[in-house]
Amino acid sequence: MIYQIYPRSFADANGDGIGDLPGITARLDHLVELGVDAVWLSPFYPSPQADAGYDVADYRDVDPLFGTLADADRLIAEAHDRGLRVIVDLVPNHTSSAHRWFREALAAAPGSPERARYVFRDGGGPDGDEPPNDWTSVFGGPAWTRVTGPDGSPGQWYLHLFDPGQPDLNWDNPDIRAEFLDVLRFWLDRGVDGFRVDVAHGLIKQADLANWREPQEILSGNEADRPRPPMWDQDGVHEIYREWRRLLDSYDGGRVLVAEAWVEPAERLARYVRPDEMHQAFNFEYLQASWTAPAQYAVITRSLEATDSVGAPTTWVLSNHDVVRHASRLGLPVGTPRPNGIGIGDPQPDAALGLRRARAASLLMLALPGSAYLFQGEELGLPEHMTLPDEARQDPTWERSGHAERGRDGCRVPIPWEADAPSYGFGPTDASWLPQPPMWAEYAVDRQREVPGSTYELYRTALRLRREHGLGRGTLYWLSSGDEVLSFRNGEVSVLTNFGDAAAPLPAGAELLHASAPLTDEGAVPADVTVWFRAA
Ligand code: BGC
Repeated sequence: MIYQIYPRSFADANGDGIGDLPGITARLDHLVELGVDAVWLSPFYPSPQADAGYDVADYRDVDPLFGTLADADRLIAEAHDRGLRVIVDLVPNHTSSAHRWFREALAAAPGSPERARYVFRDGGGPDGDEPPNDWTSVFGGPAWTRVTGPDGSPGQWYLHLFDPGQPDLNWDNPDIRAEFLDVLRFWLDRGVDGFRVDVAHGLIKQADLANWREPQEILSGNEADRPRPPMWDQDGVHEIYREWRRLLDSYDGGRVLVAEAWVEPAERLARYVRPDEMHQAFNFEYLQASWTAPAQYAVITRSLEATDSVGAPTTWVLSNHDVVRHASRLGLPVGTPRPNGIGIGDPQPDAALGLRRARAASLLMLALPGSAYLFQGEELGLPEHMTLPDEARQDPTWERSGHAERGRDGCRVPIPWEADAPSYGFGPTDASWLPQPPMWAEYAVDRQREVPGSTYELYRTALRLRREHGLGRGTLYWLSSGDEVLSFRNGEVSVLTNFGDAAAPLPAGAELLHASAPLTDEGAVPADVTVWFRAA
């Protein structure tokens, strides 16, 4: 089980309102108590923070906001002392516009080797004042920005699939490949156990940069019934990961690569985890599946079949720093497309129903064979911050979409540790880079620890049983897959989730091991509840 730490929002040791590496180190015991096997840290490298650190200006250092390289070394060592593995984020699709390479590219002439590290093109139209193609940025607006020469005259355009502060690298250039192999070595030598590879499906673009004509969905991959977009999931990316895999395999200790690739269908995603490529890939099809028995049955079955076909473990994820937290998402009417943020004036989810379903979904997920990824705060049942003032928003999506998309700030709010402390224990002061809602107190760790029935204890028990019964390495056998109830067995543990309205009976003689909510007086499983049991 891998726990995602979003460093800005986990724990703030110096009280400046932004979480930091010493803050994480000081809270590692929480993760041990919870039952985590590995942590994945979102980026902490020097960055202008145009996209919360996914705009990296130097791949071999730590931003002073988060600490120093010595703090990173200490965090890795202290995690290892506790038996926790450490995965860091690698952002190879783009650098920051503040990276030395991009500054050199701007200072150099069109056609120069410096420009050839990025995707620079002359503009279209008679004066070159139209973008080279029709691609739009994932965050909204055009995917191209025109640069000005030293004399102020308009020049070429550069590609950025995300923010203008994130110019895309040209992965056809051997210099880029050599540089990233060296960055990998830098962190492997410091002892990290692996890398989560950002936008792993985007590095290679179709050579002709053909027009796409479709609106750019946020990090959408290709669906089975549509042509593959020219910027995503091009076959050339796999050669890069094969080379990385050879490097990782030359290190001891089983270092891993995890693909963040928004690629559908599952068979295409499975190509990223063939035996000589990455070890795991995030399963976003699972994250996006509706809360119905047939939809969950279909996505679980497809995911297992696809990864089995290449001999890789399946992964499961319900929340991360890019999506509305599942305790809120699942409170929207079933079938609602996944919103990009929720704010004041938007249809609000049913909070109680959302939490009930989220607990059932998490318990279902944690019984599945494969690797489960948790996002900090979900073990507290934390909802999305849905009344964040728009002035406080920092995700570039909000501005670039012309305020059409709220963006991802609502899931990134600093998490509560102590109900009665300043910033709910996030740091020693009241400072918090995004405001925390007043109701955060009730979710604080110290309000839930040792409290029977709390979401924190639900996760703790689930993770303990998952480990004891070896569920992550188990095999799934379906027991039933109806329209309302799903049931399967993984080793000695049987699981039943009730998606319907009426209570569902347990098999006679079932011995209850764990449940996401109390059973009915008759011992049946109520609506939106998952139970783990041992069959008679
Ligand atoms: C990260 C996002 C980021 C984007 C661009 C993603 O997939 O998870 O947070 O905005 O890559 O780097």
